[in-house]
Amino acid sequence: MTGKIWGMGIGPGDPELITLKAYNRLREADVVAYPAPEVGDSLARSIVADHLPIGIKEYAIRMPLVEARFPAQQIYDKAALDIEEMVQQGKNVAVLCEGDPFFYGSFMYLFGRLSESCPMEVIPGVSSLTASAAMLRSPLAARNDVLTVLPGPLDEDALRSGIEKSDAVAIIKVGRHFEKIHRVLSDLDLLDCARYVERATMENQRILPINDLEDNKAPYFSIILVHKRGEAWTV
Ligand SMILES: C[S@@+](CC[C@H](N)C(=O)[O-])C[C@H]1O[C@@H](n2cnc3c(N)ncnc32)[C@H](O)[C@@H]1O
Repeated sequence: MTGKIWGMGIGPGDPELITLKAYNRLREADVVAYPAPEVGDSLARSIVADHLPIGIKEYAIRMPLVEARFPAQQIYDKAALDIEEMVQQGKNVAVLCEGDPFFYGSFMYLFGRLSESCPMEVIPGVSSLTASAAMLRSPLAARNDVLTVLPGPLDEDALRSGIEKSDAVAIIKVGRHFEKIHRVLSDLDLLDCARYVERATMENQRILPINDLEDNKAPYFSIILVHKRGEAWTV
């Protein structure tokens, strides 16, 4: 009998924001797989550390910190083969994904490789988008607002036109792109409507005015929310 893969969203950081469904499947899993840096601890594993059943086998998918797609492709190819073998041996494998697996989630690279060959269930999670809105006490969109998600690595023109076409914007993957994003928001006279949070719901969460970042440096786990109509939900 073959096993199964659960691709599970485990939320944005606060261990209480894991869904009951993900928690229950994790407790039944034989193997827990998670992304991890080449050296050091996995953020995804740390979120569920208190929920891991004793004796569960662990499989870390270790990634070098480079932007090139090729090392990552090879690592996912190898991880997919290993996980497929576990499933063929009858193991149930929980693959952890920070936030939601299908919102820019790392799990989709395994989904793309294994969804045809292995029984698989995708378990949604609380995404950083909704968690950040809650932490910032800033609703994402109201009424017929057009909400756009823009990745920070986009070039300046793409960011500008994306923002211009929308009522509300969430900018993810801010990190080292902070200065560029700040410049675009400033050119569009939107800094007053922009809200910034880093590591939302984690123990070291910080919410700062967008002009107050030391050396204009933001960590990878940060989001900027912009609503052009300011407090649009009050009117
Ligand atoms: C590759 S995407 C993964 C998104 C994730 N699957 C989700 O559902 O939120 C990574 C980006 O999500 C955002 N992000 C994820 N977790 C976050 C958190 N706890 N606080 C702020 N931003 C976060 C950051 O912008 C980060 O650069």
